[in-house]
Amino acid sequence: MKKKHPQSLMMSFGHRPNAHNGAIKCPIYQSSTFVFPSAEIGKRQFELAYGLDESRENDESLFIYSRLNNPTLEVCEKRLALWDKAEDCALFSSGMAAITTAFFSFLKPGDLLLHSHTLYGGTSHFIAEILPKLGVKTLSFSPNESKEQILHRLAKSGEEANLKMIYAETPCNPTLELVDISMLRDLADESISSQEIIVAIDNTNLGPVWQEPLSHGADLVLYSATKYIAGHSDVVAGACLGKASLMQTIRTMRTFLGNMTDPNTAWLVSRSLETLKVRMDQQAKNAQKVAEYLQDHPLVEKLYFPGLLRPADGEQYEILKRQCLSGGAMISFDIKGGENEAFEFLNGLKLIKLAVSLGSTESLAEHPASMTHAGVPKEERQAHGITDKMIRLSIGLEHYEDIINDVKLGFSNIRNVEKEELEFAYDVFSIEM
Ligand SMILES: Cc1ncc(COP(=O)(O)O)c(C=O)c1O
Repeated sequence: MKKKHPQSLMMSFGHRPNAHNGAIKCPIYQSSTFVFPSAEIGKRQFELAYGLDESRENDESLFIYSRLNNPTLEVCEKRLALWDKAEDCALFSSGMAAITTAFFSFLKPGDLLLHSHTLYGGTSHFIAEILPKLGVKTLSFSPNESKEQILHRLAKSGEEANLKMIYAETPCNPTLELVDISMLRDLADESISSQEIIVAIDNTNLGPVWQEPLSHGADLVLYSATKYIAGHSDVVAGACLGKASLMQTIRTMRTFLGNMTDPNTAWLVSRSLETLKVRMDQQAKNAQKVAEYLQDHPLVEKLYFPGLLRPADGEQYEILKRQCLSGGAMISFDIKGGENEAFEFLNGLKLIKLAVSLGSTESLAEHPASMTHAGVPKEERQAHGITDKMIRLSIGLEHYEDIINDVKLGFSNIRNVEKEELEFAYDVFSIEM
């Protein structure tokens, strides 16, 4: 029989109403501990949970304690795993909890972490400030470097034999350049490292609907589920997915760090999964319209949006075609002028809210240089194109005409503008939509 699409399973997978008084929705199991039917069965549950014995065919997996597992989390984890075609998924209290647990699970003193630049500010801080204190070495690469260039730098670093993890965010934030996941897989396979290398991808910016890192060779997928997955700016959560063998290590670390999510949050995430595809598809359609409006705007100096890549853009276009099902719903642009003009634009918005985060039902705008990426040193920001005139938009579910009108309001709030540019900014819907 043909397999069902994930969106068809989000309302039912992993939950049997008959076992729950007919409740169509999975109940919130607000319970810290679970009663064992017998001491023997309780003993067996711990043997399995702590990996003290191999699992056998007739082993029954029961719940023990909500730091290890919980039925409401389990339903959500099973459903989330369907999108990425992952063998297992673990939910976390935040995206940062998922990411740092992946680092703690696989990196030890002396190991080398190779990572893409630029990353989400929190991840970037953890890599720059905390991993070195734990004896982990780090080396970064930029999205436009080829495999050969990266391998060459790795060899020159003298640390290639210690390479343990390759970590990337694609598209990068906020410049939205794409990183080739299959190239990273090849790099891991070709490296002379003496260790088994884990390729871990933060898929927050396009996943899980528009990009499946595991099918391009990644070992682990990480999410800030706070973004598209939960999608309503009302919860903070994270997730890690991958092969069962790797996930066992992640789950064990989660048990001891105690940074799983709680049953209420897991329930809200499950509820959001029911509408994930329709939300993300509509957000992408809206973003395409907004980006098309911005691309010819006289007050926009440079536009960053994967959905407008063309064959002339070379490798970036090739990666988009190979790896992504959409250009996503985030748009960055450099406004003509500097920080002043960027702030005037942001202060002029009404419908689009001035807030960090992304992937939610409402459109958001922010200033990366002074907000999400304020912790990145200025020279590094400039080297990676995060200018003081850059604005990042996350496009939501409002009607795209209203979003574009609000963007026009933002432009019209800029004082130092030529007359014809102002007319363009006010020119409501002279362009065909
Ligand atoms: C790409 C990316 N990864 C990870 C995170 C961290 O997620 P959280 O805020 O849920 O901890 C964020 C947060 O903005 C993000 O944008």
